[in-house]
Amino acid sequence: MWRKLFGGDAEHKPPSSKEPASPGLSVPQNMLPRHIAIVMDGNGRWATAKGSSRSAGHEAGARTLKRIVRAASDMGIEVLTVYAFSTENWKRPHREIDFLLRLFDTFLKREIDEMHKENVCIRFIGRRDRFSDRFLARMEDAERRTAHNTGVHFNLAANYGSQDEIVRAVRKLATRVAEGEIRPEDIDEALFSNVLDTAGDPPVDLFIRTSGDLRLSNFLLWQSAYAELYFTETHWPDFTPEELKRAIENFAGRKRRFGGLTTEE
Ligand code: FPP
Repeated sequence: MWRKLFGGDAEHKPPSSKEPASPGLSVPQNMLPRHIAIVMDGNGRWATAKGSSRSAGHEAGARTLKRIVRAASDMGIEVLTVYAFSTENWKRPHREIDFLLRLFDTFLKREIDEMHKENVCIRFIGRRDRFSDRFLARMEDAERRTAHNTGVHFNLAANYGSQDEIVRAVRKLATRVAEGEIRPEDIDEALFSNVLDTAGDPPVDLFIRTSGDLRLSNFLLWQSAYAELYFTETHWPDFTPEELKRAIENFAGRKRRFGGLTTEE
């Protein structure tokens, strides 16, 4: 199904049909969220509840991530952005950071061929200045190889913080103004969006956070201006394609006004 939706050289088209988006999903294609963002929280709590190590929780989280990328792709989601490591996560114990970075590296090494075959286009968002050369090379290779894929755009946020991203974007625009390439009055929302790490992606429609905390944690603040929020108590390793479906169905039932009024009001 994944390849059927996005296979070959077929152009990736935004949802338009009123047909159900995929079997088992009651939401028509034109009501799907185009961009889903996920804060994959609760690996540690999941592991503690099972008497396992936090590392085991992160490993289980990686397996969940693989299933969810495939499910999102099967459902016809255009963009999936997940929070793998924040600019604040460097405060964690060295051992956990080392483990996570090794896990990301192994994940890429193991999954990249399959994702490429399945037409997934991978991009990393966040700062690139604290990773090892080896990991940077792995990231760049994954991006280069999948750049022309027309399936789901899978953004992995690594060393990412939304405020940091916004400051970097402001600096890029300030440089262009200083060099006389643009005028301050040329800067509008569209131009600003295009210098963010997510340039080219539609805004976040559905923002999901697992494991019970009710906050955004510096994730995609600009992009989520009108996102619908979905919080669940489920720890990330237990999050299933079924629950993703429920979140999407819940989203499809919301009235979105974007600051205006709906037709009935
Ligand atoms: C939050 O759980 C999770 C993280 C900080 C890391 C996210 C990483 C994964 C889902 C592993 C797989 C990712 C890739 C890219 C292979 P937590 O440790 O904050 O959990 P807690 O709040 O219960 O302690």
